[in-house]
Amino acid sequence: MHQVETAASASRHSGVRTAAEMARDSARYDESTPMARAIEQQLLLRQGRRPGSALPRPDHTRVMVVANQKGGVGKTTTAVNMAAALAQHGLRVLVIDLDPQGNASTALAVDHHRGTLSSYDVLVDGVPLVDVVQPHPDLPNLFVAPATIDLAGAEIELVSVVARESRLRRAIAAHPLVDGGGEDRFDYVLIDCPPSLGLLTLNALVAGAEMLIPIQAEYYALEGLGQLLETVEMVRTHLNQELTVSTILITMFDSRTNLAAGVAAEVRQHFADQVLRTSIPRSVRVSEAPSYGQSVMTYDPGSPGALSYLEAAREMAQRGVSSQSAAQHDAHHGAQHDAPTTSATHSDLGGSR
Ligand SMILES: Nc1ncnc2c1ncn2[C@@H]1O[C@H](COP(=O)(O)OP(=O)(O)OP(=O)(O)O)[C@@H](O)[C@H]1O
Ligand SMILES: [Mg+2]
Repeated sequence: MHQVETAASASRHSGVRTAAEMARDSARYDESTPMARAIEQQLLLRQGRRPGSALPRPDHTRVMVVANQKGGVGKTTTAVNMAAALAQHGLRVLVIDLDPQGNASTALAVDHHRGTLSSYDVLVDGVPLVDVVQPHPDLPNLFVAPATIDLAGAEIELVSVVARESRLRRAIAAHPLVDGGGEDRFDYVLIDCPPSLGLLTLNALVAGAEMLIPIQAEYYALEGLGQLLETVEMVRTHLNQELTVSTILITMFDSRTNLAAGVAAEVRQHFADQVLRTSIPRSVRVSEAPSYGQSVMTYDPGSPGALSYLEAAREMAQRGVSSQSAAQHDAHHGAQHDAPTTSATHSDLGGSR
């Protein structure tokens, strides 16, 4: 009678398991996999309960530069989906679109037609960042400083501007929700860079303390990375001592090819500590989402791409908290769902998808 019903025996009885049955049995799901966590969250939501998986807040605003001068490696996709995942889980996030293509602004569905106040006005005319920021239409914790096509001229216009490399740094520092202790402080500022190492990317490198480098798991992945790292070194020496490459994310991973596995292994060998365990699989849903003005996190939250970005965001958030604030977070929320060690204890998730 009290014998615990296994998933197999339940499906033998009826073929279908109800949410209630699954919720009752949820303790038996292995919480260490992203799919299990997603199921658990859906069950909690159906029961009208808030998922207990809020991510830990960093003790300061983490300004992260999403950069790689190689085109099409997943910078924008990573900035947009990491931002959405962090915001969906209770963190306050600002995305600064620093690419004249405006892809992040499109994916995040904010106005960015020519004439809209944008990152161009911040950089070139010194308009306060707070004046250009727009709220995301769906996610209440997410904000966007859009990019318009005007930004294409900024590389040249900035050349004659005083302190041209530190315009963005000053603008971010002057934003009232950056740092400081208030509840509504931004936890993350993610800067989406264009595919070049010009003045726009330089402004981002001077503005941020951390870099998030997406690397596409393909043959030429590491080509050009040397140049990027040299630039980082130059910036660190002359312009921004704080800058570190804290996070590397392998994107568009195709587990069916030996090539992808080989490239991923090489990246992990080079950057052992910085590479997130989670890698992002190549997935059609990820590439479709922007055409609906959405991140994959809202477009298809249960898809492998969305689950991977959630897992990557979780890893990034957990790595970012000092042990002190992690302990504070646990004390506040209880450690049952969000122990900081969950993702650190299982191996490369992306590799198996
Ligand atoms: N995991 C993925 N699966 C499938 N397609 C993806 C994935 N990630 C990104 N893409 C697609 O690859 C293309 C390039 O991605 P994205 O625009 O994010 O790269 P980028 O580095 O920002 O490019 P750019 O250098 O032009 O700014 C886009 O069409 C995007 O939808
Ligand atoms: Mg881009």
